[in-house]
Amino acid sequence: MIKACVVGATGYTGVELVRLLSRHPEVVIVGITSNNYAGREYDDLYPSLKGYFSMKCDELNVKELIKKSDVIFTALPSGHALEFAGEIISSGKKLIDLGADFRFDDPLVYEKWYGKPFKLHEGVRRVYGLPEIYRKKIKNANVIGNPGCYPTSAILALAPCLKYGLILTEDIIIDSKSGVSGAGHSLTLGNLYAECNESTKAYGVANHRHTPEIEQELGKICGKEIKVTFTPHLVPMTRGILSTIYCNLKEDISVKEVREAYVDFYKGEFFVKLLEEGRFPRTKDTYGSNHCHIGLAYDEHTGKLIIISAIDNLMKGASGQAVQNMNILFDFPEYMGLDFPAIYP
Ligand SMILES: NC(=O)c1ccc[n+]([C@@H]2O[C@H](COP(=O)([O-])OP(=O)(O)OC[C@H]3O[C@@H](n4cnc5c(N)ncnc54)[C@H](OP(=O)(O)O)[C@@H]3O)[C@@H](O)[C@H]2O)c1
Repeated sequence: MIKACVVGATGYTGVELVRLLSRHPEVVIVGITSNNYAGREYDDLYPSLKGYFSMKCDELNVKELIKKSDVIFTALPSGHALEFAGEIISSGKKLIDLGADFRFDDPLVYEKWYGKPFKLHEGVRRVYGLPEIYRKKIKNANVIGNPGCYPTSAILALAPCLKYGLILTEDIIIDSKSGVSGAGHSLTLGNLYAECNESTKAYGVANHRHTPEIEQELGKICGKEIKVTFTPHLVPMTRGILSTIYCNLKEDISVKEVREAYVDFYKGEFFVKLLEEGRFPRTKDTYGSNHCHIGLAYDEHTGKLIIISAIDNLMKGASGQAVQNMNILFDFPEYMGLDFPAIYP
């Protein structure tokens, strides 16, 4: 059994982590923290967990958390985990950060998009925590930069095409839709029911923070710098991300080859499912699960390859993926505690 703490356990990704970890056969949760709800009983705040998990929320005290845990999950707004990563690592413990602090290879890119100075502490072995791409590196890391939700959906959808050089690397367009939980639980006017319900809008147009993260990872996969057009949209649902991606298939490549490349790339991957020809993902089919569904089509009229992916933003897009990373770090079967289908309907 390993001991885990969740920092920021009262947020949407935090409560999803607690739901997963409280049922994980190899984990005991030894600490949870909150900013505004310290001293409150967790199952009082989240009755959905009554009978499964009860503990009082603590204030954040990093030294105390380090003393009692093997792994610390930080589910905080970006910028906080950076402050105490050094302390966690020098004590020999592992850190899985759901924010953006450890996702970037280039500190200047992080500083530009997140507005905070970046300093990697001595002893930190950081990795971008996308298991389907970096499984081996994750095993040897002590800090996991858990990927963003939109980047997870886009990178998994494009990785085989870029790895095998099937598409042109110019003019890739990623059109993504997210449920409202993607914005977290803090009160924001734009996320109120009357604002989101029966409405859909684009946001972060031409400047969303996930663009450099997507470009970094896609660039590494194809071995050259890459630029993408990424436009996220807010849609009136609670969970889920659907990404529709348009790109140009190379002239000598057939759709059959593309499909074979996806089958090969994701062979043996438990959480990524390529749908049959003519079938396309729906967020409903991944709701509450750690799975990513991918569908492919070729538009002969325009010569575009269209790739569609669906994930649950709080699962494969955040907490489910974080638990998958923990499983790899501690040599548990990767699907342990995550081996269940989506909730349907
Ligand atoms: N939501 C998603 O779909 C998603 C997906 C992937 C990644 N992420 C990333 O995961 C992280 C958490 O996201 P979330 O959606 O769970 O956010 P959230 O619902 O707003 O929760 C944030 C958590 O952090 C705590 N917190 C806020 N400010 C703090 C501070 N100054 N000191 C200590 N604790 C503080 C909050 O405590 P209180 O409850 O007391 O306010 C809450 O527990 C973010 O970096 C986000 O970008 C989110």
